[in-house]
Amino acid sequence: MSHCDNRSTVSSALRAVLVAGAAVRGPHPARHPAPDQGRCGGLGVTRVLVAYGSKRRGTAGLATMIGDALAEAGYPSVVMPARDVRELVGVDAVIVAGALYANRWHRDARRFVRRHATRLRGLPVWLVSSGPLDDSASLGDIPPTKQVAKLVERAGARGHITFGGALAADAKGFPASAMAKTKSGDWRDAEQVRRWVATIVPQLSPAGGS
Ligand SMILES: Cc1cc2nc3c(=O)[nH]c(=O)nc-3n(C[C@H](O)[C@H](O)[C@H](O)COP(=O)(O)O)c2cc1C
Repeated sequence: MSHCDNRSTVSSALRAVLVAGAAVRGPHPARHPAPDQGRCGGLGVTRVLVAYGSKRRGTAGLATMIGDALAEAGYPSVVMPARDVRELVGVDAVIVAGALYANRWHRDARRFVRRHATRLRGLPVWLVSSGPLDDSASLGDIPPTKQVAKLVERAGARGHITFGGALAADAKGFPASAMAKTKSGDWRDAEQVRRWVATIVPQLSPAGGS
């Protein structure tokens, strides 16, 4: 196993939160052949949980983009549905992504923040909303909705960002199917996700994490 190939280390460190279906994303070996302490090496490893609430998988995909961007930056993460997280054990930082429906966050993301609020307040936390079905999220900052702003407070989050969303042309159920007639598409932007992850990474090392 190379120095940075620490998927198994991450798996064991996070087994308290891992359940079937959780995806462990290790650091990108080509870009981080010799990681710094505090990234994927030794005792200073920072373990990031990316928990999401998603109805039609768009936010699940966005969470995976975040996990991939973290891995490329040298930070192992676990990406998993918020409803499957039992205990925040062995986690050093948390990103919670919620799908927006009528300005409200997906229930699983809301519940996750409420359930783990005490623990979250002691960790570096960021909230992510997804997302507008146009390019507005890539053109400028979209503040959290009223409900999400309260969750930002509750979690003691360091920040919030809104990324573009996705809606399939054949989306089922009303009103999604009606909306899909005029608003289907995919506005999730992996490059924008990478740029955002680069802004939070300095706060993920043990030195910058408090
Ligand atoms: C019925 C409906 C209501 C929506 N309401 C909002 C909204 O209030 N704000 C927003 O930014 N996007 C809204 N969207 C777009 C969704 O947030 C977007 O499709 C997102 O990617 C859905 O995530 P999911 O696929 O993980 O469920 C709405 C979409 C639907 C179908």
